[in-house]
Amino acid sequence: MKDIPVNERIILALDVDSPAQAKELVKKTESHLNFYKVGLQLFMASWFEIVDWLSARGHKVMVDLKFFDIPETVRLAVARLNNRGVTFATIHGNDPIIRAAVEAKGDLALLAVTVLTSFGQEDMQAMGMTQSIEDLVYFRARRALELGCDGVVSSGLEAKRLRDKLGAKLLIVTPGIRPGANIRDQQDDQQRIVTARQAIADGADYLVIGRPITKASDPLEVINMLQDEIRQGLAV
Ligand code: C5P
Repeated sequence: MKDIPVNERIILALDVDSPAQAKELVKKTESHLNFYKVGLQLFMASWFEIVDWLSARGHKVMVDLKFFDIPETVRLAVARLNNRGVTFATIHGNDPIIRAAVEAKGDLALLAVTVLTSFGQEDMQAMGMTQSIEDLVYFRARRALELGCDGVVSSGLEAKRLRDKLGAKLLIVTPGIRPGANIRDQQDDQQRIVTARQAIADGADYLVIGRPITKASDPLEVINMLQDEIRQGLAV
């Protein structure tokens, strides 16, 4: 098991419209958290302002722009994230795209998106993919690792198989986490959801969590609850 401090196990998804809102969320939670994710919504509003602000404040940053384009474009986009305090970046695509991204990754850890946690089996079928999600996630994760990615983004439902088959070194970053007992009541647009305890017990290293924390009336209370679940998962 990797030696990751509990305050870095949750990567808080800063899915808000402005740097001001993001900074407010960070200030509210940074006593408990040290890892934040900037995705499409916030990056469109603030470009690198928020990324640089987070890293200057000593926080780890995941830039989740899920690059997908021809290899040369992805290579150049990944290169733009180098040497600015970014810890994780996300990409997806076929072998040449992944290879190009790996060539440019420099000091950051590159994560390949396997299958979005908002996709269910019917969504895959609608896109013409008949393989089971579990098999596709495993296939994509294995390729990504072989091609030099540091890890994958995948649902907690697949974490165990990935950890067992692909070994300890692979970074597994898991979104689609919902706290507590009634996770189906808080599904939002996610489909393949699990609890923090389960994801960690099954081998996830980091949990990407957004709305359960950002929409809570008391975010710190939810974070405390989730970190307890993480400790329980680590003890399994
Ligand atoms: O609000 P919630 O906890 O569902 O947040 C999920 C976050 O994780 C979003 O920022 C979303 O972009 C991200 N994500 C995901 N599934 C992936 C990759 C990233 O839900 N496969």
